[in-house]
Amino acid sequence: MSAHGDPIPMTARCAGPLRGTAHVPGDKSISHRALILGALSVGETRITGLLEGQDVLDTARAMRAFGAEVAHLAPGEWVVNGVGTCGFAEPEDVIDCGNSGTGVRLIMGAMATCPITATFTGDASLRSRPMGRVTDPLALFGARAHGRGGGRLPMTIVGAADPVPVRYAVPVPSAQVKSAVLLAGLNAPGETVVIEREATRDHTERMLAGFGAALRVEEAAEGRVITLIGQPELKPQAIAVPRDPSSAAFPVCAALIVEGSDVLVPGIGLNPTRAGLFTTLREMGADLTYENEREEGGEPVADLRARFSPDMKGIEVPPERAPAMIDEYPILAVVAAFAEGPTVMRGIRELRVKESDRIAAMADGLTACGVRVETGEDWMIVHGMGAGGMPGGAICATHLDHRIAMSFLCAGLAAVAPVTVDDVGPISTSFPVFDPLMEGLGAQFERAET
Ligand code: S3P
Repeated sequence: MSAHGDPIPMTARCAGPLRGTAHVPGDKSISHRALILGALSVGETRITGLLEGQDVLDTARAMRAFGAEVAHLAPGEWVVNGVGTCGFAEPEDVIDCGNSGTGVRLIMGAMATCPITATFTGDASLRSRPMGRVTDPLALFGARAHGRGGGRLPMTIVGAADPVPVRYAVPVPSAQVKSAVLLAGLNAPGETVVIEREATRDHTERMLAGFGAALRVEEAAEGRVITLIGQPELKPQAIAVPRDPSSAAFPVCAALIVEGSDVLVPGIGLNPTRAGLFTTLREMGADLTYENEREEGGEPVADLRARFSPDMKGIEVPPERAPAMIDEYPILAVVAAFAEGPTVMRGIRELRVKESDRIAAMADGLTACGVRVETGEDWMIVHGMGAGGMPGGAICATHLDHRIAMSFLCAGLAAVAPVTVDDVGPISTSFPVFDPLMEGLGAQFERAET
């Protein structure tokens, strides 16, 4: 099923090179945070380049439900009139976060130290994902959670009327958990400390500092220690959202595997906590260059140029790089299938609890496409078949997961026989212009007759 209706199957076939310029949409992580931090500031936050994918639209709707004014002015241009760090109103109805783990977990954090109660739900994918990783630390602030078995949505959070600050070592590498604790810490008196053993994407820290919160980040023996002074008055900002490296990954990787391709993807955020895929691709021998490197809105940005790379070799991806490319393993697994020899991915247990079990979804789909894949609880090995070597000719199940859908469509552009995905509906959660953008480069997609 698609996120919001009947399943929409689509077939991708090999039909010549991809060429041209691909302007991918705004960064999903930064877009969620821009809306939430705007809602937690007093006054007007102006946002340009906001991703207008369903996940972010659901967060915008949620911020309205908590009392912020959120207005859409023009494509990508939004204004948020916030209510302040302790100003969230109690929503009148259930908050539906759709497919978005980031949306629900960050919003739970932001409301957990307000004296209000809110109930959250989402689609079948989100309702199957673990929320205990967020509600455990929120309980330390004094918030209470009542959900389904296994800590699943729907779930009601009773915010702490008298929150206390916490010191919390995040047990899994998760920027969502770290961010939920920091957002809860905004409305607790004193210092909230979050420790992460492995650095994850740091947009929340950067943006909180930009909104005027007092926040310190130190590297210590126990990991990255982030200290936030509670109850700041956040000052509204003008935010220019950079283009999403996780979305850029699809046209970039498709260009690397489709013969004769040469694609430019301009203005991509290359925050080191997000750019692990591009480093990995270059290690595999991809013809991928950074042009016009610059800084925009406090984030490193470059234009990415990707050309067909017939001589890529499988590599062992360093496990410590996993947090910096956690959303990119599905498309990396596709590229690996077109490289020579095995690509070994370890330390990827977190993929089991994304929008789908991404290790299983990729292994099943690639196997159906004729690629040999081995998997374990936290690892996957893809045995590459070289350029043009993937037989394809399969129908791949996407399990309500946008990145699985886009990965197999990219595979179909280079495989010997067409590849069909069972439902492209979820792609609109993160990359609503994926099909026209890829078709503009020369991709051939066919929607099934309904
Ligand atoms: C995100 C964090 C990551 C990532 C997700 C976006 C964020 O999730 O997979 O797409 O914006 O904080 P985890 O925190 O579960 O690793």
